[in-house]
Amino acid sequence: MIEISVKAGHAHKQRDDAVVIPLLAGRKLTESGKTLQQETGKSLPSFLRKFDINGAFAESATLYDVEGTYSQRIMLIGADDEKRLTLQKLRALAAKVARELDKSGARDVSIYLPELMVRKTSVAERVQVIAEGIWLGLYSFEKYKSKKDENRRALRSVTIMVASRRDLDAAAAAVDRAQAIAMGTNFARDLANEPGNVCTPEYLGDQAESLHHKKLKVTVMDKKAIEKSGFTALLAVNQGSAKEPRFIVLEYNGGKKSEAPVALVGKGLTFDAGGISIKPGAQMDEMKFDMCGSAAVLGIFKAVTELNLPVNLLGVIPATENLLGSAAYKPGDIITSYKGITIEVLNTDAEGRIILSDALAYAAEKKPAEIIDFATLTGACVIALGAQASGLIGTGEGLKKALKRSGDYTHDRVWELPMFEEYQEQIKSDIADIRNIGGREAGTITAACFLSRFVDDIPWAHLDIAGTAWNMKGTDISAKGGTGAGVRLVVDYLMRKVS
Ligand code: BES
Ligand code: MN
Ligand code: ZN
Repeated sequence: MIEISVKAGHAHKQRDDAVVIPLLAGRKLTESGKTLQQETGKSLPSFLRKFDINGAFAESATLYDVEGTYSQRIMLIGADDEKRLTLQKLRALAAKVARELDKSGARDVSIYLPELMVRKTSVAERVQVIAEGIWLGLYSFEKYKSKKDENRRALRSVTIMVASRRDLDAAAAAVDRAQAIAMGTNFARDLANEPGNVCTPEYLGDQAESLHHKKLKVTVMDKKAIEKSGFTALLAVNQGSAKEPRFIVLEYNGGKKSEAPVALVGKGLTFDAGGISIKPGAQMDEMKFDMCGSAAVLGIFKAVTELNLPVNLLGVIPATENLLGSAAYKPGDIITSYKGITIEVLNTDAEGRIILSDALAYAAEKKPAEIIDFATLTGACVIALGAQASGLIGTGEGLKKALKRSGDYTHDRVWELPMFEEYQEQIKSDIADIRNIGGREAGTITAACFLSRFVDDIPWAHLDIAGTAWNMKGTDISAKGGTGAGVRLVVDYLMRKVS
């Protein structure tokens, strides 16, 4: 992991492998560039005349050995019109710069991105998103590449330059926040990207136990303990798998003892073949990502413990595979869940809601202040919202409002779908309390209707991350594969709650 620090000072005085200066649309320089221009005579403006870089977003050009400077190179990075900049664009720009520098052979660099004036933002906010962008943008998952390039000179340190020494303390605190958030997100990405033969329910339990903090307690139940506790819905889905399930409980007590916790519940389906209602072959490999809800929960715990946030959290993760072994649960089966509600199974591929039913009921029993669940629950959500927002459905009005705000702020966005009473009709069963599918219409909503039966009257928000949790094309701030969706969203939500 690369080091990020903060500093104030002029660009021409930095002794680095590279100094990065923004260039606005129309070849306008910002403060650092203007000073550099004054100090270096004509080299910079003549370069700008000679080469056709205009300052379009993310366009870049590098000058070597500029007279009057101490660094090996000056990299100009296009930042477009300042009026059009947003915090997310700044994050994306930092990610892009970091990746480019990492490839260039530069090891220690200084970047002058915080002077880009995003409307209505503080220096600290800009420093935070820049640091996030660097750490998130440099993430890659290469542990299974057996040939490593030993001669590669990877980026080692980035100094984020601020305009005034007065900003240094706030900027340093912003980097610390960014580090916890990015490490939590990258932890979730690592879990997501592990193949299904490695990331098993047992592995998820081990990873939960790897989180250490004096205020954190982790309990991992094996199959025996799960049977004893009566998590029968989880056991039903597990029947077709040769691997044991796990039921993982995390308790973080950073807040007041008397305060009810925020419960975070995550779907930990380590591989979803669909079960007897088997999925088609195309892209079935991507169903190793069906545990991304649990990855989000673990990523949030990693960040929150790192930040020492004064909150109480309860984490609950039901973990299993959904396979087709000879003992597998079948269409037509009726399961009596932990809560006692009976479930008619009409499609074994709608397994996420089944395992979540026990986890939600368990969480609700603990009387948390609110419940947020994360699940790659429905293909319908991918059709509705694509990769740009997680589906949001629930009963906690204040909670949903706050999540929308954090989603907009972090760009880990959510979009609400309704849960009108009438939709509940679709999951009525003829012979049990409810059925596990609600027909073709409103698939994301009827899945949420199912979950709603298990949360009592506790304010609840369900996040369907089926479209956002992984991205096979990659995004501005994420490599191909797991994105860590939900981590930045909910860490921001929790930070605002306690500030
Ligand atoms: N894990 C899937 C949902 C999913 C599918 C996520 C594709 C991301 C991409 C879930 O377990 C599932 O199979 N859901 C079914 C439900 C249906 C049978 C009612 C679906 O969405 O097709
Ligand atoms: Mn499924
Ligand atoms: Zn699934």
